[in-house]
Amino acid sequence: MTPVEPVAMAVGPRFTALPPLSLYVHIPWCVRKCPYCDFNSHEARGDVPQQEYVGALLADLEMALPRIWGRKVHTIFIGGGTPSLFDAPAIDALLSGIRARVPVVPDAEVTLEANPGTFERQRFAGFYAAGVNRLSLGIQSFAPHQLEALGRIHDADEARRAAESALMIFGNVNLDLMYALPRQTPDDALSDVAAAIGFGAPHLSFYQLTLEPNTLFHRNPPPVPDDDAAADIEDAVHGALANAGYVRYETSAFARAGRQSRHNVNYWRFGDYLGIGAGAHSKISFADRVERELRWKQPAQYLREVAAGAPVQEQSRVAREDIGFEFMLNALRLTDGVPSSLFAERTGYPLAIAARGIAEATRRGLLDADPAWLRPTPLGRRFLTDLQALFLPATRATPKTRITVHAAP
Ligand SMILES: C[S@@+](CC[C@H](N)C(=O)[O-])C[C@H]1O[C@@H](n2cnc3c(N)ncnc32)[C@H](O)[C@@H]1O
Ligand code: SF4
Repeated sequence: MTPVEPVAMAVGPRFTALPPLSLYVHIPWCVRKCPYCDFNSHEARGDVPQQEYVGALLADLEMALPRIWGRKVHTIFIGGGTPSLFDAPAIDALLSGIRARVPVVPDAEVTLEANPGTFERQRFAGFYAAGVNRLSLGIQSFAPHQLEALGRIHDADEARRAAESALMIFGNVNLDLMYALPRQTPDDALSDVAAAIGFGAPHLSFYQLTLEPNTLFHRNPPPVPDDDAAADIEDAVHGALANAGYVRYETSAFARAGRQSRHNVNYWRFGDYLGIGAGAHSKISFADRVERELRWKQPAQYLREVAAGAPVQEQSRVAREDIGFEFMLNALRLTDGVPSSLFAERTGYPLAIAARGIAEATRRGLLDADPAWLRPTPLGRRFLTDLQALFLPATRATPKTRITVHAAP
């Protein structure tokens, strides 16, 4: 019998079917940079070059086509930055251009992120007519003094009007809020929760405010609650949301039955995504490898590089020793976790490569002992970063992939 080539056995993942594919589109401008925000967003000085940018996005997509050939796009997420800075004809041109270039499934979820400071009824209606069927609105808080402390460009009335119109036009709406805000008490946070619930949006996101490096708040920190006070606020927020029938299906995401974000769930289940636009990240699987890409971050440079035919700044292959951690980084954010079989399906490697981490996490009470599921325990959810870190390769103490609270790449 001829022995199997040892090299062929040792290298690379093996996929029988590729993961579902999502498309992320990054719009990198905002009216003003918020002091807590470390997203790739840049203050728009004067008019943003909408037409030129949409042209560049479509050229970027066209150059990426050979890498996703024959694959259907299941969800589209237009994020930022502030995509609602663009007018409806620009979003229409973008979505029509995407549909002309890649097969988008007929019932695809198409989300657009909006800031209440850019709200006009007509514009929202135009987004809907262009094919956006889910709106994600950055509210942050309904308390006027908090909106001011957060440097937001909108007041509480604008936030309310934008939420009302979004619900009327789209129905399928997410409201983003943050807690553990400067000097916030549990009662203050509960007022925000009550206001958010009052709109009846099917999806709410509650993020703990984090002081990210390279932000104004990091250099000049506001008086945010300490860890214990923040944990009390979090308990109050989560309790009130549960009482109102919102299920916490991910670290920061709460939804009514069947109204989870399909796009974000695809990230968390270690699906594939092509990210186009300035600074967008991609993860694309092939029969024998998984690759990551990062596009040029600065809008002006991105536009130049697209014109020169080279939008991708970095491309790398995900190594065997990293992929277990990367999978767990996403999957363990889901409250119900994932079936154990998904590991091999989405990484191309047997679950045995994560056995050491699984055993240790189970021993510490961070992961359920059920062999059929990878599910964090309540303790594992509270200490999620510690749980995820157990899957880091033994050779690396600190993660190469940053652990972030947000899923949108
Ligand atoms: C990329 S932003 C898009 C929304 C839109 N640009 C806006 O702010 O209205 C997505 C969400 O991330 C959250 N976020 C941003 N920076 C954060 C931070 N430092 N800590 C916690 N949440 C943050 C906010 O809730 C924000 O709405
Ligand atoms: S939080 Fe939203 S509006 Fe503020 S700078 Fe970041 S992306 Fe722009």
